[in-house]
Amino acid sequence: MTYDLEAVRAQFPALALSDNGTRRIYFDNPAGTQVPKVVADAVSNCLLTTNANGGGYFASSRAADAVVQSARDAMADFLNAPSSDEIVFGQNMTTITLHLSRSLGRLFKPGDEIILSRMDHDANVWPWVMLARDLQLEVRWLSFNRETFEFDLDDLDKLITEKTKLVCVGGASNLTGTINDVRAICRKARAAGAFSFVDGVQSAPHIATDVSDIGCDFFVCSSYKFFGPHQGILWGRREVLERLEPYKVRPAPSSIPGCFETGTQSHEGIAGITATVDYFAAIGASMGEVLCRGESADETVRRDQVRAAMKLLFAYEEQLARHLIEGLQSIDGVTVQGITAPDAMNRRVPTVSFTHVNAKPAAVAERLARENIFVWSGHNYAVEVAQSLGLFDSGGVVRVGPVHYNSITEIDELLAILPGILGA
Ligand SMILES: Cc1ncc(COP(=O)(O)O)c(C=O)c1O
Repeated sequence: MTYDLEAVRAQFPALALSDNGTRRIYFDNPAGTQVPKVVADAVSNCLLTTNANGGGYFASSRAADAVVQSARDAMADFLNAPSSDEIVFGQNMTTITLHLSRSLGRLFKPGDEIILSRMDHDANVWPWVMLARDLQLEVRWLSFNRETFEFDLDDLDKLITEKTKLVCVGGASNLTGTINDVRAICRKARAAGAFSFVDGVQSAPHIATDVSDIGCDFFVCSSYKFFGPHQGILWGRREVLERLEPYKVRPAPSSIPGCFETGTQSHEGIAGITATVDYFAAIGASMGEVLCRGESADETVRRDQVRAAMKLLFAYEEQLARHLIEGLQSIDGVTVQGITAPDAMNRRVPTVSFTHVNAKPAAVAERLARENIFVWSGHNYAVEVAQSLGLFDSGGVVRVGPVHYNSITEIDELLAILPGILGA
């Protein structure tokens, strides 16, 4: 199992770009990743050869339908979903969540309770708060420990009652980087007879997702966060999806998954999803430790390859995170707002946010941009997280988000420049 960084980087044309002769360093990945050429080719090929609306009798329409079906198959492998007709496409995670919340709300009545987390991006918070307002539901909040940056699941036990109908939680935080134990959380929700809705936008790029193992009812993610095009993807448990009344127009399909797909989809984006999953599979096949080679009846070869790739890439990302965090902690006045213990890198994704005793996050991001180092600053839509950490009014954090195509050398460049910027 050997990770070949240069072979991977060579697949991403954007990594070779420079501006006025200065190389680019992309640490803005939690907000959106670059794409390998195979993904861009798939998008382009779809537009150039299969550009039609679906459901027709003619060749290009049938090809467009095949493009969508291939992407459902690919995502079923990526998420280890039992069936590809449980895969729903949409514009992005936020749109899908807002849309689905309306259907789910039809199963709730005033006085019912929903549990939201203070670790989540607002896309897994505010759609539900608005639903609660509309339906007079009670919102109960799962907080995280400000020192460990993790949930204490005993707190969840105290929040769950016989009125709990829904538990919403993120796979990984887009601000602290913490990986949440969604499996345990969804089990508790299920035991209480509640639905569970997992926002996997920040976990899907880093760890192998297995919705069957997690035991959730819904899992949402966005392929532009994992090296694909701008698309949102929902997996829903069949029996739950079939219970819901979709918000749709009359001529639209009445069966899953099409009944949840509003209007005409971006076929070109969906074509890119297949190529994205195949990109991971190719890494797994060539560099990873493919275990059962699809011999299990439940698992395809591609699923096995994807899992092998994620394992390999996560091990590499752990090194990046450790190096970055150690470097940041050695700079005077810097506080890493997340898990830092060197032996705990498996409990976080490599998204590392920090604050400085004097420097404003936006000013740091702007200075790094001048060096062509791309980072984000602010609350990054993690409103509850920033408020919980007392950082909302002080400008949030500087967020450095390496992924598997970044190098230790790039991190060292950042670490060499930062002390000067921070005045440390
Ligand atoms: C954890 C998390 N959830 C949800 C979203 C929203 O995703 P989308 O842009 O696909 O709506 C983001 C985007 O940054 C995110 O980081």
